[in-house]
Amino acid sequence: MTQTYPWWQTGVIYQIYPRSFMDGNGDGVGDLPGITSRLDYLRWLGVDAIWLSPIYPSPMADFGYDIANYTAVDPLFGTMQDMDTLIQQAHSRDLKIILDFVPNHTSDEHPWFQEARASRENAKRDWYIWHDPASDGGPPNNWTSYFGGSAWQFDAQTGQYYLHLFDVKQPDLNWRNPRVQEAMFDVMRFWLDRGIDGFRVDVLWLLLKDDQFRDNLMNPDWKPGDLPSARQEKIHTEDQPGIHELVRKMRSVLDGYGERVFIGEIYLSIPRLLNYYGEMLDEAHLPFNFQFITMPNWHAQTIRQIVDEYETTLPNGAWPNWVLGNHDRARIATRVGSEQARVAQMLLLTLRGTPTCYYGDELGMQNGNVPPEMISDPQGKENPEHSRDPIRTPMQWDSGPNAGFCPATVSPWLPLADDYQTCNVASEQNDPRSFLTLTRTLLDLRRSLFALTIGSFQSIDQDNNSCFVYQRQHNEQHYLVVLNISVQEQTVKLPGQGRIVLSTYLDREGSLDLSTLHLRGNEGYLLEKLF
Ligand code: NOJ
Repeated sequence: MTQTYPWWQTGVIYQIYPRSFMDGNGDGVGDLPGITSRLDYLRWLGVDAIWLSPIYPSPMADFGYDIANYTAVDPLFGTMQDMDTLIQQAHSRDLKIILDFVPNHTSDEHPWFQEARASRENAKRDWYIWHDPASDGGPPNNWTSYFGGSAWQFDAQTGQYYLHLFDVKQPDLNWRNPRVQEAMFDVMRFWLDRGIDGFRVDVLWLLLKDDQFRDNLMNPDWKPGDLPSARQEKIHTEDQPGIHELVRKMRSVLDGYGERVFIGEIYLSIPRLLNYYGEMLDEAHLPFNFQFITMPNWHAQTIRQIVDEYETTLPNGAWPNWVLGNHDRARIATRVGSEQARVAQMLLLTLRGTPTCYYGDELGMQNGNVPPEMISDPQGKENPEHSRDPIRTPMQWDSGPNAGFCPATVSPWLPLADDYQTCNVASEQNDPRSFLTLTRTLLDLRRSLFALTIGSFQSIDQDNNSCFVYQRQHNEQHYLVVLNISVQEQTVKLPGQGRIVLSTYLDREGSLDLSTLHLRGNEGYLLEKLF
C-alpha cells in the first residue's frame, strides 16, 4: 500500500507580510485584494501554502501582532468579504491559506483588556496577568520585554502592574484561566469554519509564565549588540511546566477539522524544540525550526552539525521543517551575501521536511535601508540596530515606480530597497540565470522528485570542510546535494558517477566523474547519482 502524505508535508509554505506584499487600493500599504491579485504569481512560482502575518483589527503598535478583535479584518487590509474571496481564490488554485494566531497577548485596545483594567473586581480582570507592586513600588520582578525595558506596566487607576512580554500596548493574556482558553479556542474555530487551512501560532513557547513570579536569571554571555531579549535567561517566562498540556488542547481543536496544519513559533534549542511535537505527536505538526536563523555562523560544518542533530533526534514519525528567514530576522541574502544565498536556497529546498520561504527571498531580496527617523518598528524604536523595518520593505515586482508595489503617486509605508530596479519579479522572470529562476526550478524539481519531497536524508562524509554533502533517496532515485559554503573554489571527492541536474549558477548540466568534483565559489549542485 502506498503511504499518503498530508499537503503540509509535501508542500512549500510562503510567508506574506501583508503590509508589504501588494497594495491593491493605492494607500501605500499592502492589503488582501493586493494579495489576491498576485495569487497567479505564487502558483507560477510553485509554492503550496501562504501564511499571512496578522490581518485583524489592530492599532498597529506592533503592526498587527497587537490585536483588538480576533474575528474581523482590519479595514487597512480590506473586509471580511475580501478575506473570503482570498480563501476561495487561493483554494481554486490549489493554494492553502494559513493565518497567524496570536494567543499570548491582545492589544490594550481589545475590549477584554478595556474591561480588565476597569476595576480589580471586573469579571475579565483575571484574563490578564496583574501583580501588586514590589515593596519599593516598582515592578513585581525583573522580567523584561522582548522589545527592551521592564515587562511590567503600572496601571494607576487600579494600582497594579500588568505584564507585557512585548510592547506596552500588548498585555499578556492569562492562559491559566480556562475562560481565556475557551475564548481563544473559539477564535480558532471561527477561522477554521471559514475554511482556512491552519495556523502559525505566535510565541507558542511563551504562553505560560511562572505562577510564583520568580526572577529570571541574567545571561552572563550577553554582550552589547546582542538582541536585548537575550540579556536574561528566561527560565521563568519561557517553556514553562504545563505548556505541553495547553498545546495539546490547541491541537485537538484543529484535529476536529481534518487536514489542517498547526505550526508553532518556538525559539528553543533542538532538544527542547522537539518536545513541541508532543510525546504522541499530538502537539504542533511543525514546531518551526529556526536553527538556520539563530546559528552562530554560516559554515559548512555548523550547518551539517545542525542538520544531523535535528535529523537524528527528531521523534519517530515527526515531520521536519526548515526556515531561512522571517519578518523578525535579517534576510538571508543580507546575512550570507547574494551569491551564497543561492546555495542557501538550494539547501532549504532540498533538505527533508517542509520549507518556509519568506516573501522576496525567492528573488534574493536584501534588507532595505530605513533611515533612523523613519523607524516604525517598536523593537527598532527601543534599539535602532535591531529594527525589523529593513526586513519588511515592499515586495519588488518590477523596475517601475515603487517597484509595482503601490502607485507612483503615493509613498509606500516603508521605503523600497535600493536594488529594486534589478532585483524584481519582472526582470528576474526573463532571466534564465536569475535567483527567481533558480527558486522556481528548485521548487519544480522538489515537486517532481519523490527523493526530494519524501525521500530519506543522509549526510555524506567527505574531506572538504567547506562543503556540505548529503543524499536524498527514494526507491531507485538517488540524488546528491553538494554545497560549497565558501567563496573559494572547492573540490569534493566522492565515489562513482553523477549527472548534474542543477547548478546554482544555472549554467551546467551533464554527466561527470565524482572523484574530483569541482565547485566554483558559492556553487551548489543537485546531482543524480549514476551507478
Ligand atoms: C513574534 C512575531 O513574529 C513578532 O513579529 C512579534 O513582534 C512578536 N511575536 C509579538 O507578537
